Amino acid sequence: MANGSRKETTHGRDWETPPSSFVSGANVTAGDRDALRETGWPSCWKTAAELLDWHRSFDAVLDDDGSTRWFPGGRLNASHNCIDRYVANGRGDETALIWEGKLGETRTYTYHQLRDEVNAFAAALRNLGVGEDDVVTLYMPMVPELPIAMLACARIGAPHSVVFAGFSANALATRLAGADSEYLVTCDGYYRRGTALHLKSMADNACLSVEQDVEQIVVNRLGDDGEIGDARSYADLVADHDGVEIDPVERDSDDSLFLIYTSGTTGEPTLVEHTTGGYLSHVAWTSHAVFDLKPEDTHWCSADVGWITGHSYAVYGPLALGATTILYEGTPDHPEKNRLWEVIERNEVDVFYTAPTSIRAFMKWGSEYPEQHDLSSLRLLGTVGEPIDETAWRWYREHVGGGECPIVDTWWQTETGGVVLSTLPGADRMRPGAVGRELPGIGATVVNEVGEEVPPRESGRLVLTRPWPGMARSLCEDAGWGVRRTSRADGQWQYDTGDNAVRDEDGYLHLLGRADDVLNVSGRRLSTAEIESAIVGVDGVAEAAVVGGTDTMKGSKVHAFVSPESNVAGDEVLRTRVQSAVESAIGSIAAPDSVTFTPSLPKTRSGKVVRRYLKAIANGEDLGDTSALRNPEVVGELESLLNE
Ligand code: WT7
Repeated sequence: MANGSRKETTHGRDWETPPSSFVSGANVTAGDRDALRETGWPSCWKTAAELLDWHRSFDAVLDDDGSTRWFPGGRLNASHNCIDRYVANGRGDETALIWEGKLGETRTYTYHQLRDEVNAFAAALRNLGVGEDDVVTLYMPMVPELPIAMLACARIGAPHSVVFAGFSANALATRLAGADSEYLVTCDGYYRRGTALHLKSMADNACLSVEQDVEQIVVNRLGDDGEIGDARSYADLVADHDGVEIDPVERDSDDSLFLIYTSGTTGEPTLVEHTTGGYLSHVAWTSHAVFDLKPEDTHWCSADVGWITGHSYAVYGPLALGATTILYEGTPDHPEKNRLWEVIERNEVDVFYTAPTSIRAFMKWGSEYPEQHDLSSLRLLGTVGEPIDETAWRWYREHVGGGECPIVDTWWQTETGGVVLSTLPGADRMRPGAVGRELPGIGATVVNEVGEEVPPRESGRLVLTRPWPGMARSLCEDAGWGVRRTSRADGQWQYDTGDNAVRDEDGYLHLLGRADDVLNVSGRRLSTAEIESAIVGVDGVAEAAVVGGTDTMKGSKVHAFVSPESNVAGDEVLRTRVQSAVESAIGSIAAPDSVTFTPSLPKTRSGKVVRRYLKAIANGEDLGDTSALRNPEVVGELESLLNE
């Protein structure tokens, strides 16, 4: 390999090293990493907080009363940190945001322009009555008004709750109701693969089904003069408040910056709440250390802002560092399969961050697409969302990274706020297929069922053993949403991630996928319980169980086993009703890839559905002994059904 990349092997596994040109310019060197590890937890996180501008500096890194508040006493505003401070220090004419629209349009905002529009919209929100701590729901596709609305909310201390535009009206209603949100910013619609989808009617349906009155603000994306009824027009509001300045509200470090819903192990979406000081420090520092972002860089995180990845690494992280971020509307293969590479070439992107599911699709389409473009601006590549296999890793490095770019495989979750496991690209060697170690300041270990650490090469549950700044607030509390702890006799703090992992002899962690009832379909989180509850709501369905089937492209696929009521046929009509029930409860992303009808589900003698068997059946695996079942015959019937 060119430019100083060396290949080494230990314990029969290869290492890859970054080129020396990367190492010499890296934000975080091996020396910095060692110094951070030396400083120890929690003090080393002070470095992260120092990347921000604080109105009042914090009294401590972590409170000492055991309640897990990060940077207590500190006061700050996220919108000031992501915008104003760069205008104030003379960088106002530099580009903050580049929007690449679906129809080939582009829009660019300098830090100055971003400040003006965020100010105007913040003023409009305040005029509509939005006060500090009022939750504003944003149900929007990838348009510039989405990050603008997020930052406007942050400016006035109103937590935003972004709902992915692919979710259904019912899913939006649950999230509006759950957050008791009285304000909704949405779009008339958006384009997907060249067709216009209407979002406003979904928003209207959601608003009709919640108890509170919801004030709607509508961005005109489709360009037609669609009726917006009682709703306000975003463009009119911004024009009316043009030139108004709103002082960024000083927030306590522990005050909420935003809410986001994710799929948990129950039938209901899980509400996750992120704080201002801890979260912003975490995403700023990981953007600096893991993505090696410099203020002059153009960063492209291809994830939708509707998910946490987009919040942290398309909006807050890159803007907190004063870099340029790309917001891409649309799909990677439309209008052509070279679209992403064309965007990278034209914008001279430095850092590109995407999901293995996309990389597998790029591989399938062929290397001729990236080869048509000059991708030499790229310095670093990243991946997130699911394990990346060695073949995809090498393809990504070779065909996108020119054989040289280091790759960071970043493991994290909605609950962690930002990256917690990864290599530091200027300091650590890479091992294709492994994420690397826990970052400095993160405690991670792999444990067995009783919470004891397992030796290297043995798999177990990945747990985080110490609090970290980006942790969701709910994880700090003793009770409430999202708290999961493994049983440990000594009662030490642990956060159970729900993932299985194994550590190799060199200390690198290899992720093995979810161990709980959460599915990872194309890097998106779905709950089997949520899908099941939509299916059993269908007339004629007696019972349903949803499991993950392995899928080489999507990671997992959604496999539904459905048992109709005794007088109902498991036919195409019922199948269609099952599919549309899931689409209307959650959205088409959760629609089952396959529906298998069965007279009954395999159950224990006490009547519990044994998903383990269903999963094995869906994946054509060996079932082992099924004699403990109440109805072992059903397993054989299902196997023969699926083998037909
Ligand atoms: C789950 C979290 C915030 C990241 C995007 C998804 C899986 C995430 C990796 C990785 C293997 C990964 C885990 C995790 N995951 N990154 N690099 N390697 N698995 O956030 O929707 O909250 O999902 O995504 O299973 O638990 P999320």
